Amino acid sequence: MRLQRVLEPEVMDSEQEAGDYDAIDNREVNEQFCADVLAVAPAPRRALDVGTGTALIPIALCRRAAGVHVVAIDMADSMLALARRNVERAGLASRIELARRDAKDTGYPRGFDLALSNSIVHHIPEPLETLREMVRVVESGGVVFVRDLARPPSDADVLRLVEMHAEVPDGVPAPERNVYLRQRALFEASLRAALTVEEVNELIRELPFSSVDLRMTSDRHWTLVGRVR
Ligand SMILES: C[S@@+](CC[C@H](N)C(=O)[O-])C[C@H]1O[C@@H](n2cnc3c(N)ncnc32)[C@H](O)[C@@H]1O
Repeated sequence: MRLQRVLEPEVMDSEQEAGDYDAIDNREVNEQFCADVLAVAPAPRRALDVGTGTALIPIALCRRAAGVHVVAIDMADSMLALARRNVERAGLASRIELARRDAKDTGYPRGFDLALSNSIVHHIPEPLETLREMVRVVESGGVVFVRDLARPPSDADVLRLVEMHAEVPDGVPAPERNVYLRQRALFEASLRAALTVEEVNELIRELPFSSVDLRMTSDRHWTLVGRVR
């Protein structure tokens, strides 16, 4: 039988969760994410990053795309506090606006030419609401770019991916080892909470896209690129 979805808490709002998340070295992943976004939306002006976490993606995006202004939202105060620190350290406070808003109902009027999101869909019990909201705020011709983990078909596949991508290095001293162990547990829980690409495909059927590209883009991620009608 196919693995069933097991939900994670929606918002990551403890200082430990935010600190652990910020400590993961996702630089390569974030750079690839931004390169892939800019390949389909080469010169964004006003972007909405949904579930920004500690704002590392908006920072990487601003460094690559000179003309972009990013509104970066999250519901977790602890994430937003670290995001604020990261944005200030990067000297990008004038180009990245942080706000505590719900991905399902942001309250922004239509007016973005890009809405992007990395690794948030698996947090949301009913992800269609979030995807619909991302489409709603994007102007006609703009791009919705969403990437997330894909739920593997079996327990054995979950454990294989955890072994491959969340290894705890040998000889790490106790406090740091605990961070690795928590990150590993989080990765496993996130894989179990994720949607399959078929489930995403089913969800987006009624969204007003003029073109859609949805596919697996790594051994554990799907990516959706939709152009808004
Ligand atoms: C796994 S983190 C990803 C952070 C960031 N996108 C990245 O790739 O580094 C998911 C984030 O989504 C946020 N989140 C979950 N539900 C949300 C909601 N309804 N509205 C806004 N943010 C939400 C969590 O608080 C968390 O910061």
